[in-house]
Amino acid sequence: MSGKEKLIIFDTTLRDGEQSPGASMTQEEKLRIAKALERLRVDVIEAGFAIASPGDFAAVKAIADTIKESRVCSLARAVEADIRRAGEALQNANAARIHTFIATSPIHMEYKLRLQPDQVVEQAVKAVKLARSLCDDVEFSCEDAGRSQIDFLCRIIEAAIDAGARTINIPDTVGYAMPQQYGEMIRQLLERIPNADKAIFSVHCHNDLGLAVANSLAAVANGARQVECTINGLGERAGNAALEEIVMAVRTRSDFFKVETTINTQEIVAASRLVSSITGFPVQPNKAIVGANAFAHESGIHQDGVIKHRETYEIMRAEDVGWNTNRMVLGKLSGRNAFRARLEAIGITLKSEQELNDAFKRFKDLADKKQEIFDEDLQALVSDTQKEIENARYGFVSLSVCSQTGEIPNCSLVLTVDGTEQKGQSQGAGPVDATFKAIETIAQSGATLELYNVNAITSGTDSQGEVTVRLEKGGRIVNGHGADIDIVAASAKAYLDALNHLESGAKAHPQNDGV
Ligand code: KIV
Ligand code: ZN
Repeated sequence: MSGKEKLIIFDTTLRDGEQSPGASMTQEEKLRIAKALERLRVDVIEAGFAIASPGDFAAVKAIADTIKESRVCSLARAVEADIRRAGEALQNANAARIHTFIATSPIHMEYKLRLQPDQVVEQAVKAVKLARSLCDDVEFSCEDAGRSQIDFLCRIIEAAIDAGARTINIPDTVGYAMPQQYGEMIRQLLERIPNADKAIFSVHCHNDLGLAVANSLAAVANGARQVECTINGLGERAGNAALEEIVMAVRTRSDFFKVETTINTQEIVAASRLVSSITGFPVQPNKAIVGANAFAHESGIHQDGVIKHRETYEIMRAEDVGWNTNRMVLGKLSGRNAFRARLEAIGITLKSEQELNDAFKRFKDLADKKQEIFDEDLQALVSDTQKEIENARYGFVSLSVCSQTGEIPNCSLVLTVDGTEQKGQSQGAGPVDATFKAIETIAQSGATLELYNVNAITSGTDSQGEVTVRLEKGGRIVNGHGADIDIVAASAKAYLDALNHLESGAKAHPQNDGV
């Protein structure tokens, strides 16, 4: 470090990010993302909300048991059961944190909590004390702080610090704040709270008005020393502040900020791709830092300038965030050991020999069709392998699509339903439409298609297509994704994956329950 103060990067992709409709992840997927976050050297990984469901508990526990370099955190409402469950899940962590929260805005206290301000302070203090009895590192959040009264925030925060909280988080839960006003709020809190020097002040901004990053940076400029953020800005509604934007803003404008992070920026693009491929949320091409066009100069004047002197139009180097590190890693003649070693190098450990065999077979099939196999291909291939094993209701076997100018497209396919093969057939407006209709002749799910998206995983016309399908049924939204060189087959796999997610049952999120 260079004498600058440290800005703690707290990643909540696995908790707030997972609260995006359709972004729920399996334990295996969460573990893979946690390992990518560890490689990125994030300081704190919020691994989930341990009390939310047995699956959430198991995922937080698995991450706490595995991750060694980052602190692992679980969210807990300011109630005893939540805090004890969080403590239990974090028991084996190398470094743990319990993050407890209660709402502090007049509107939340009156209508959601139905508590008087005095009762909220009392509950917060009790919660922090209990959390401290289970864990040395406790964070306290004032939910909806962005719309809370500053005098009340001063009072509850002082009490929480006295009770043992060492990080105080000021969330703009509904994305309502404006940068100047929010920065000023942080400045005043730090100035007015007598014991403020005993805690790190943190911010957690939502992006409803597109200001999550601007608000977070305004807070940093005014003394916040932790930012809560997510990869690709994933998160509830319009999302959270994007980690990659916060980190690169602080680094690129080191002349402006008095802080620095210890993030390994070269891992940013890999982490972004992993999160996008697991959640099925594509990254828009013009997204800062991680969008496909983020470093592409189209205009002749810009290209000419960059060739003559790079800094004329470039404020960051693409390679510093991990672009252009695409490597041709394996080919048709690569063996099982090389395959396993490459998976391990990119942070993927398959659970069993059966999974490895299955993934290796897929790799060989892919290598027959595609000469150069990149890390992104391996990620997609392994996602498919793990999905098939975990969600066995519907499986893809084969399809045949006929699409000819002037003729109505037709699809015949074979699926497995609970292990038994079934055949379906349908016409449709196009080959993909015919495929989805053919699947529905078998599944009859009653779900509505909300989104269909295709992305090329790598460059070239032999790239695998990665498809995202979003289905809605009875108010529940799920995403599915699939990858294949044949984009119609990728579409079928994505649709079946979404159906499998629908089958796997809904999970109520306790953060929405009040308290
Ligand atoms: O947005 C929010 O207020 C939260 C808290 C639980 C930190 O996610
Ligand atoms: Zn949030």
